[in-house]
Amino acid sequence: MAEHVIGTIDEFPPGSHRVVSVGRAKIGIFNLDGELYALPNICPHQFGPVCEGHVTGTLLSDRDHDWNHYWGLHGRVVSCPWHGIEFDITTGRALVNPNLKMRQYTVLVEADEVRLSI
Ligand code: FES
Repeated sequence: MAEHVIGTIDEFPPGSHRVVSVGRAKIGIFNLDGELYALPNICPHQFGPVCEGHVTGTLLSDRDHDWNHYWGLHGRVVSCPWHGIEFDITTGRALVNPNLKMRQYTVLVEADEVRLSI
């Protein structure tokens, strides 16, 4: 594993996401309310460019809401542009099937530099 400087923190403002290249790897960097997350831009379903999808929320349903649908996880879900599978950015897991999971990379900010370990 090696650490790479991928830019400065102003290039990744809160609410933004973009794909960076590190060597041959393409990694999606997401800033959720100041917290950075890094996921591979390869969907575990059929290898689509998942990190280029829209960041959104999703419809949820649970016992606490009497099994009625409600909008949740707003700004925390990326939807793969190929077939629409939604992933929780904070865990890398598909909402429809938690066993479908993306690898997560460590991304840190030091002295305004964003550093990605892959
Ligand atoms: S390739 Fe991502 S949902 Fe199918």
